Amino acid sequence: HISGLTLQSFLVFFTVFFMACFVLKRSENLPPYPAGRVPVLGHLLALGRAPHLKLTAWRRQYGDVFTVRMGMEDAVVLNGYTAVKDALVDRSELFASRPPNYMFDAVFGNQKDIGSARWGTEFKQRKRFALTALKNLGMKVGPGSIEEKIREEASCLRNRMTEYEEEPFDVSNDITVAVANVICSMTFGKRYDYGDETFRELGKAIASVMAEIGAGQIFSAFPVLRFVPGINRTCKEVFKQNSKIHRVVWDEITSHRENLDRENPRDFLDFCLLEVEQQGKVEGLTEENVMYMATDLFLGGTDTTTNTLLWSLLYMTLHPDIQNKVQEELDAVVGDSLPALSHRSQLPYVNACLLEVMRIRPVGPFTIPHATTETVKVREYDIPKGTKVLPNLYSLHMDPAYWPDPDRFDPGRFLDAEGNVINKPESFMPFSGGRRVCLGEQLARMELFLFFSTLLQSFTFRTPEGAPPPTTDGVLGLTLAPQPFKLCAILR
Ligand code: HEM
Repeated sequence: HISGLTLQSFLVFFTVFFMACFVLKRSENLPPYPAGRVPVLGHLLALGRAPHLKLTAWRRQYGDVFTVRMGMEDAVVLNGYTAVKDALVDRSELFASRPPNYMFDAVFGNQKDIGSARWGTEFKQRKRFALTALKNLGMKVGPGSIEEKIREEASCLRNRMTEYEEEPFDVSNDITVAVANVICSMTFGKRYDYGDETFRELGKAIASVMAEIGAGQIFSAFPVLRFVPGINRTCKEVFKQNSKIHRVVWDEITSHRENLDRENPRDFLDFCLLEVEQQGKVEGLTEENVMYMATDLFLGGTDTTTNTLLWSLLYMTLHPDIQNKVQEELDAVVGDSLPALSHRSQLPYVNACLLEVMRIRPVGPFTIPHATTETVKVREYDIPKGTKVLPNLYSLHMDPAYWPDPDRFDPGRFLDAEGNVINKPESFMPFSGGRRVCLGEQLARMELFLFFSTLLQSFTFRTPEGAPPPTTDGVLGLTLAPQPFKLCAILR
């Protein structure tokens, strides 16, 4: 009887509390809410399983700027090129922070990395340092360069796909492994064999953190759920898998510290550990920061690149004519040699295909949530400092004013009348922009080009005989992924 009473009071308390939160007038002059907001959940039900589609549809109804309520949180959504470019690029610093996020903050040691760090000196110094380190690594040429490491990995991936002997297979496992290995090469200076136990554990842990951390947003929307036994299992699982990633990275940090080559930093960890020793550009950088920054590379660089490559193969199977054009261009320019970055400028159609893939299915359709660093005016609204902001990149890429018939896959959009790739097209920001632009953009572009070219040079990708074509509807977790699909890799 007593526990029944306690439960009853608990329910009454929370119902009253949530109703109060719902009816309380907001003190700020935030943009309006779209219809469909209900007590407690806010717009969560209305947003459904494909929020990128819903928010883009709402733009047509409510304009470029509106507010959505997700549980206990409000987020200002920016839509379309004008509003998003204004915030992310033209007034970048005013929108360059991150809102508190329970899971992210826990996974990254309370902002000890780059991606989750709030706007400020520490973030700026770490990001500048990491960009320079990646650039220096990327500029190396010849054996041991990033380009060579990706080419080696692309060639392993090709061999792996040959083993399926043209039978249907789920391509996502092998691509994830290849992409994670590139991050290993760059961060730790070594790649792993596909069967290596540590590597498989690492891969599983990354996949699991990425899968659960998206669902974990619910713990920011409803903080009380963190304490509800059973429901908070997600948190515990993420923390467990995250500590596995940390263990692998710590082991590498230890062995790098013992063999540090001060004259010739070989990989990202070497660059970071030298900086920890010298304290030159990043004040107070610790090995713990290094561990979290390396975790950023794994979590930021694996799912994104993998899913973009998966989308590219999916669209090739749906458009054999386009696949054929890609292969003709590769045959004419690359022939039988292993594709290299030096071929890139001579392959406009290949480049245009990859750009079109990133337009039609941007894997980070809302960026990582931003937060305002000051009170800012957007249109007629005053958005207070610290407000969560979601730039809807999907709305830019699907805007018929810039991209006629936006649902049609057409690489030709990215070519000018002479057949050259259009430089910096408007309403296109797959890597976001401004101060929070993707740290790995250059690396990702290299990987996409080298993996895609190597695979298309060697295979024709087809839907298995008798199977329905794969759907282009994505699944939105932390990234926008295709639904699992199988294909056949037919040797050319
Ligand atoms: C951030 C896209 C690959 C590391 C981001 C953001 C997007 C993005 C949209 C959010 C930016 C914002 O919040 O405004 C992509 C795409 C990729 C890719 C489409 C591949 C096709 C990579 C790779 C790495 C990486 C390979 C690592 C080497 C990061 C990091 C951030 C980030 C650390 C946080 C940056 C910050 O907070 O300042 N990426 N990314 N990404 N990305 Fe990527």
